[in-house]
Amino acid sequence: MTPADVIYMPEQPAHEPEIEEINAEAFGPGRFTRAAYKIREGGPHERALSFVAIHGESVIASVKMTRVAAGEGRALMLGPLAVKPDYKNLGIGRHLVKLAIEAAGKAGWPAVILVGDEPYYGPLGFRRIPRGQVSMPRPVDLDRLLAVEIKEGAISKLTGMIDHEDRVTASLPVEERAPDAARRVG
Ligand SMILES: CC(C)(COP(=O)(O)OP(=O)(O)OC[C@H]1O[C@@H](n2cnc3c(N)ncnc32)[C@H](O)[C@@H]1OP(=O)(O)O)[C@@H](O)C(=O)NCCC(=O)NCCS
Repeated sequence: MTPADVIYMPEQPAHEPEIEEINAEAFGPGRFTRAAYKIREGGPHERALSFVAIHGESVIASVKMTRVAAGEGRALMLGPLAVKPDYKNLGIGRHLVKLAIEAAGKAGWPAVILVGDEPYYGPLGFRRIPRGQVSMPRPVDLDRLLAVEIKEGAISKLTGMIDHEDRVTASLPVEERAPDAARRVG
């Protein structure tokens, strides 16, 4: 297999069972207890901004993106990112991250955040969110809270508890909800 044999595309509903298998193998049952999982439980992910890598007929890697909000800020949260063991170290993970950030920018998102290893994500443009600026609904290693700023000043607007945007919006009085967000949560 060469990198040219791998096709990248936005995630489709039909990919979901294979994605779930890849994530189960990569993260095990512990994935359900993670802070990022708790946030993702709060609402749907953005399928059009999430990507899969396909080889032949099979999904071999996936990255998902979820809308989050904290304080005055909004961002997409990247993850889970996982590559099937036989396909690791071929640049597929890196390429999925680049595609996801590019798509986020094109869609007008000001920032992408994640919980992950700085040695991996640092070269892809991620920097630590300053300690104490944000928290998550479950304990998280604050040194692993990373972000790429797409629009200047976007990271400093993220303050306090990060959660799924739908949960944050639902907790606001109706008059404080953004018009589009209010429509989304009905
Ligand atoms: C982490 C993961 C997504 C990387 O995907 P990949 O396609 O294998 O990685 P790439 O080919 O893009 O990059 C490979 C490079 O990243 C390095 N790397 C992989 N995981 C790393 C990590 N956790 N920390 C630092 N570097 C890492 C590799 O050593 C390799 O380095 P090299 O280029 O100097 O040889 C993949 O290993 C995976 O699915 N792991 C299990 C799930 C996981 O941990 N996901 C990330 C959540 S934070």
